[in-house]
Amino acid sequence: MQDTKALQVAVVGTGYVGLGTAIMLAYLGHQVVGLDVDQEKVEMLQRGELPIYEPHLDQLLQDSSSRLRWTTDYASAIPNADVIFICVGTPPLPGGQPNLAYVADAAQSIAQNLNGKLQVVVNKSTVPVGTGDWVARLIEEYAIDYHANRYLVVSNPEFLREGTALGDSLYPDRIVLGSDSPAGIDRLVELYQPLLDQQFEAPAYVPRPDGYTTPQLVTTSLSSAEMIKYAANAFLALKISFANEIAGLCECVDADIQEVTRGIGYDQRIGPQFLSAGAGWGGSCFGKDTAALISIGREYGYTMPILTAAVEVNQRQRQVVISKLQQHLHRLKGKRVAVLGMAFKPNTDDLRDAPAHDCIARLADLGVQVVAHDPVAMPRARQEWGHLRYQEAASAAEAMRGADAVIIMTEWDEYRQIDWSSAPRGMRNSLVIDTRHVVPDNCTMGVVERIGRRLTDPLAMQVPA
Ligand SMILES: NC(=O)c1ccc[n+]([C@@H]2O[C@H](COP(=O)([O-])OP(=O)(O)OC[C@H]3O[C@@H](n4cnc5c(N)ncnc54)[C@H](O)[C@@H]3O)[C@@H](O)[C@H]2O)c1
Repeated sequence: MQDTKALQVAVVGTGYVGLGTAIMLAYLGHQVVGLDVDQEKVEMLQRGELPIYEPHLDQLLQDSSSRLRWTTDYASAIPNADVIFICVGTPPLPGGQPNLAYVADAAQSIAQNLNGKLQVVVNKSTVPVGTGDWVARLIEEYAIDYHANRYLVVSNPEFLREGTALGDSLYPDRIVLGSDSPAGIDRLVELYQPLLDQQFEAPAYVPRPDGYTTPQLVTTSLSSAEMIKYAANAFLALKISFANEIAGLCECVDADIQEVTRGIGYDQRIGPQFLSAGAGWGGSCFGKDTAALISIGREYGYTMPILTAAVEVNQRQRQVVISKLQQHLHRLKGKRVAVLGMAFKPNTDDLRDAPAHDCIARLADLGVQVVAHDPVAMPRARQEWGHLRYQEAASAAEAMRGADAVIIMTEWDEYRQIDWSSAPRGMRNSLVIDTRHVVPDNCTMGVVERIGRRLTDPLAMQVPA
């Protein structure tokens, strides 16, 4: 139990963000109810099971369970809450704009259950500038008994990364609070006090990082906070696309992108992070948020050429793997290719906009027999990727057996631990396309193709003994 002034909190939407938020706030000592319209998800949570994979979330859930409950019923969650988080999805519409229908539904249901005392509604979902004002208007319209100064709206964008969500939430770089109402900010500062002064006892399984002190508190207007989230994600996407663009040129001129990014990353104005060249960025946020920003610009007749180019580079990057395969195997029809890693990054089961999806789809279109493996995401792929043609393998070794090539799409630790000097022996051709720098440089077996680096040994392509 943490030493905190406990607030009553409702978290609406218990997906990757809402679950982490609910469990983390309960760990800090608040009384939290998590609400979702997905009955199955709520029943799992009520049984103490997690509907997603996130490292150590099960342990934090266990340690906080006495202060947590789960429901589908707005009337049992909202009236008592001092703070209500909206954490529902904002997936892209075909034109790139975010679909705000879930935010609207949540805001209306919240409004109908407000209690007339001071309550703060917090937008944690990533939403375009102006959505906070719109949520405030929905509350005004739908609240049974509206009180202008009692229902406050704050934007508190989320910066967690799946796979390291707990560490990101407990030890954030910054907490952004945007509101045009100082009382709304004050209540959120009260809620986050244990994080702001880092007075809570760090869980042993997610220790406080060495040298970490406290997060920066950034208070802004409502609209600036909304823009901060998009600008942050767009900038990170730009960095990766930039590294990928330079990687392509490195291959042309026989330079090595790993050496180049190491060389530029030590420059403090640039920094080493988000410069990994690979199969392009994916996940639920970068594609959606860059598309949203471009479409918001379009509404104002404002073009965003830098961001548009970053998106184009990313699309091109997804084709690079196929081109490399064609370069070596020439005709792909009838070949067997192992794809290692389906999740968009390691330590998550999230498959949204994963580069592996496009890779598998393209290979299958070209007549390739695809055998895929992922240590965690295969059950989710069974539900979400039913439209793709591939076989599942129980292990990386099984996927590679008899394959003409293996493509590493996700840098799971398990793949780093493979002995790459002997593993390709069971393959028909010892061709490894490593988009994530998993295979060690001193690997002596066969051909290892990387993104932005010369071939280890272009003459070594052989049928292993
Ligand atoms: N996933 C991330 O890494 C991440 C990081 C930062 C920000 N975000 C943003 O956070 C938001 C949520 O993302 P996510 O990945 O958690 O989404 P998600 O799809 O995993 O979860 C959304 C949840 O909201 C529920 N929901 C939908 N409508 C509802 C309603 N009316 N009432 C109650 N529950 C409802 C859904 O059933 C689902 O469980 C998005 O705007 C996203 O852009 C996500």
